[in-house]
Amino acid sequence: MIRSVIQGCGAYLPEKIVTNAELATKVETSDEWIQQRTGIRQRHIAADGEFTSHLATKAAQRALDASGVKASDLDLIVLATATPDETFPATATRVQAALGMTRGSAFDVQAVCAGFIYSLSVADSMIKNGIASTALVIGAETFSRILDWNDRGTCVLFGDGAGAVVLKAEQGQGTSHDRGILAHALHSDGRQHDILYVDGGPSSTRTTGYLRMEGKEVFKHAVVNMAAVVGEVLEKAGLTPADIDWLVPHQANKRIIDGTGRKLGLPPGRVVLTVDKHANTSAASIPLALESAVSDGRIKRGDLLLLEGIGGGLAWGASLVRW
Ligand code: UT7
Repeated sequence: MIRSVIQGCGAYLPEKIVTNAELATKVETSDEWIQQRTGIRQRHIAADGEFTSHLATKAAQRALDASGVKASDLDLIVLATATPDETFPATATRVQAALGMTRGSAFDVQAVCAGFIYSLSVADSMIKNGIASTALVIGAETFSRILDWNDRGTCVLFGDGAGAVVLKAEQGQGTSHDRGILAHALHSDGRQHDILYVDGGPSSTRTTGYLRMEGKEVFKHAVVNMAAVVGEVLEKAGLTPADIDWLVPHQANKRIIDGTGRKLGLPPGRVVLTVDKHANTSAASIPLALESAVSDGRIKRGDLLLLEGIGGGLAWGASLVRW
């Protein structure tokens, strides 16, 4: 039985940090409001001329170094992003060239904040059916470029960044004790388009557009859908909440994350939280959180990780990984 085993991970955040207090000088908001409602204290913002592919390439190179894998060993890059460098080609092909990878395939997956989960499941499937054997899965975003900086309801919530993992095909026993990816559950509901979308695009308006969100509505769906999808993925793997060592959630709002942790009966110390430092980095938030808990030694070999996220579409999902 082939398993896709994560060999290592890497992350990159732009140098510039913008605090809540700095934002409060530009829009009518306050550090207190942002922290109380979301848990966010600061976010990183990409420099002029710093694109999604640049963030992605840096995170990818760090993931390769941490894994002891060379770019020439890779035969697949799946890049989750809703903020590509260009309408086409895929930003993943920019990363492929920058890393010096000349074989295999590279493409983008567009599932917004669920993009990393979707990409992990695509790469896992391609490894399991023999199309690829060594893959990079990246989540990278420059959401600062699609924010309406006059809309306080959205501009305080997001940040830029990138995270990546390297997957390799390994032989497993087919049990939940195997290292690697154990199960995924994916969903979308296109009827919910209007509560979270970007009001532009090449086909509709020929512009890039800005992010629009009905936060309260998204919040309600997030709480319900996250509770359901984590139960679903555990059932698929024949596991229970008591088996989870770490919840590594999408980082949109501390209140949503706390709610999911409570429903699973996990103590707060078993939930990886980075929303305070990174804000919501969409597809990058899960691999950024994963890297933070791996690099500081919290996540250890053999631990069971539950990854989950929801965003525009609506699209959502969860993955179970034995580290
Ligand atoms: O990653 C994709 C998934 N996205 C999410 O999961 C986001 C889910 N939603 C949320 O996280 C929350 O709904 C928000 C953080 C976006 C908003 O929190 P809320 O508790 O739902 O607040 P609200 O939108 O109901 O707004 C409450 C009040 C309003 O004022 P009134 O009408 O009560 O007078 C807003 O105008 O807060 C006001 N407000 C602000 N005040 C200060 C909205 N944004 C701000 C702001 N600073 N930045």
